[in-house]
Amino acid sequence: MSKRHLVALSLSSVLALAACSSSGGGAATSSPSAAASESAAASGSAAASGSAASGSCTVAVSWNNYQQPRWAKNDQPNIKKTVEDGGGTYIDADANLSNEQQLTDINTLIGKGANVLILLGQDTKAVLPGVQAAKDAGVKVIAYDRLIEDPDIFYITFDNVGVGKAEADAVLKKVPEGNYVLIKGDPGDPNASTFLPQGWDDAGLKAAVDGNKIKVLNMGGSTWPKDAGTYTDAWKTEKAQSNMEAIIDKAVADGNKIDAILAENDSTALGVAGALKSKSYGYPPLSGQDGDEANLQNVAAGIQYVDVWKNANELGKVAGASALELCKGTAPADMSLPSGLVDPSVAPKSPTPQDFTTPGGNTVKSYILQPTPITADNLNLVVDGGWITKDKLCANAASGPTPAAFCS
Ligand code: BGC
Repeated sequence: MSKRHLVALSLSSVLALAACSSSGGGAATSSPSAAASESAAASGSAAASGSAASGSCTVAVSWNNYQQPRWAKNDQPNIKKTVEDGGGTYIDADANLSNEQQLTDINTLIGKGANVLILLGQDTKAVLPGVQAAKDAGVKVIAYDRLIEDPDIFYITFDNVGVGKAEADAVLKKVPEGNYVLIKGDPGDPNASTFLPQGWDDAGLKAAVDGNKIKVLNMGGSTWPKDAGTYTDAWKTEKAQSNMEAIIDKAVADGNKIDAILAENDSTALGVAGALKSKSYGYPPLSGQDGDEANLQNVAAGIQYVDVWKNANELGKVAGASALELCKGTAPADMSLPSGLVDPSVAPKSPTPQDFTTPGGNTVKSYILQPTPITADNLNLVVDGGWITKDKLCANAASGPTPAAFCS
């Protein structure tokens, strides 16, 4: 029996156990691509039999979700194109926010002959059996955008602490004192729970709270930063909106004014903006990250103050190129990004992977790309960078509370 079959079997046991212990949240639905890969694996022992032909490179991506626009619009096509341009084969699956489905997907992708697995983990802990299965099958793992605590992963992401810092730098400069609301993302994502809050603190949030300049209206408990703010399951816009509506209602009932809102990303910022609108609250300075179209339009209209743009096209290229190198057997320490591959304004500080020490104490090799904060004052950057056309960016500006001069 091949090593891949054994791995597939052992991961199946993990899945069976996971399914048995599941709290019954309903059957996981997989994306068309996941369904296709499962049916391919199920229908042919050739597909499931494993290793790619010698010299070829199959790069598999396990997506946790396609709910936020960036993954399908920017990350995926750039990974795929870079892999295919380099002569490799691209396969993927979308777990549609289900931990169990993600483990199934990883199993399927290994069975289909993946040489490298690019992994966007739904939950940093729940995905670990999948990482182990990949390692057992000799498949190299890239933790993509979100950290996974494992000493053998290669980590490719934007500077998430830097993203949080850029969000809070902008909002704190605008509102150095007052009542803040903190809207966090999914608690199982280390970006939401660890790195972005660390960036907020690097910008001075905790110091301002300790110095009684800023009061957080939605403290969930006393431990900072864990209990500060409200988490948003699966980073969902609707959830962020209902959470924010309740926060507004409470603030109004308590006679508190909301002066500023730090939202960790654009899908949550969109929910916050929806709540501000539905409650006719006005628009206190609000942050987000990603550079999603709707949020950049909100920046142009004066609804969102800052959007920390992560040019995910470039992240996809870095991951695709690195996966091809891993296929060749190049150790991360010996890699160098091809010159001209990545826009210099967001490129990692060095073309060679650098050490990254994780919160769990692992030292892994990493490429960390640089984010770009966008406000009404530098909207030209997203247009000049080819990220969005001026027409789209400015589509709703005139009807907004504070149209950006750039759009007039
Ligand atoms: C990513 C964000 C994204 C969020 C929701 C985070 O881990 O860093 O860019 O908006 O997940 O998908």
